[in-house]
Amino acid sequence: MNNIEETLSIIKPDAVERNLQDQIKNEFKSKGFEILNEKKIHITKEEAEKFYKVHESKPFYNDLCAYLSSGPIVVMKLQKDNAVLENRKLMGATNPDNAEEGTLRKKYGISIDKNSVHGSDSLENAKIELDFFFKD
Ligand code: CDP
Ligand code: MG
Repeated sequence: MNNIEETLSIIKPDAVERNLQDQIKNEFKSKGFEILNEKKIHITKEEAEKFYKVHESKPFYNDLCAYLSSGPIVVMKLQKDNAVLENRKLMGATNPDNAEEGTLRKKYGISIDKNSVHGSDSLENAKIELDFFFKD
């Protein structure tokens, strides 16, 4: 049974800064993800605060929002069977030190804050996050 989903992926400033976006996009493509839409943008701190509002109460919230708005990012609408879970698997654990071999965060992540990629954590949040960046 097919279960085609769409999810949001962000290539974060640390990876764009190191010019890893094409390599990371190829990782998605080779795992069977289709990139339906993508754009390179530089968001404001206020936009980052809105995007990460679920983390408002966390001690890392301010630094996280400052970081996501610190440089260009690449936002992508990905499609695949079970895209939400498959993307989370390909990304690996939040902290690159704990991420499994072969995952994007293991390969490219620098630290828990500079962990190279974001991915929606549920189908519900994927819809909200895709709307945030791709609503026409
Ligand atoms: O990104 P993911 O869903 O794996 O993790 P999260 O718990 O939703 O946290 C969002 C982002 O906040 C992470 O990707 C990290 O970049 C950052 N973070 C941090 O800087 N310090 C922490 N202790 C936890 C998360
Ligand atoms: Mg998350």
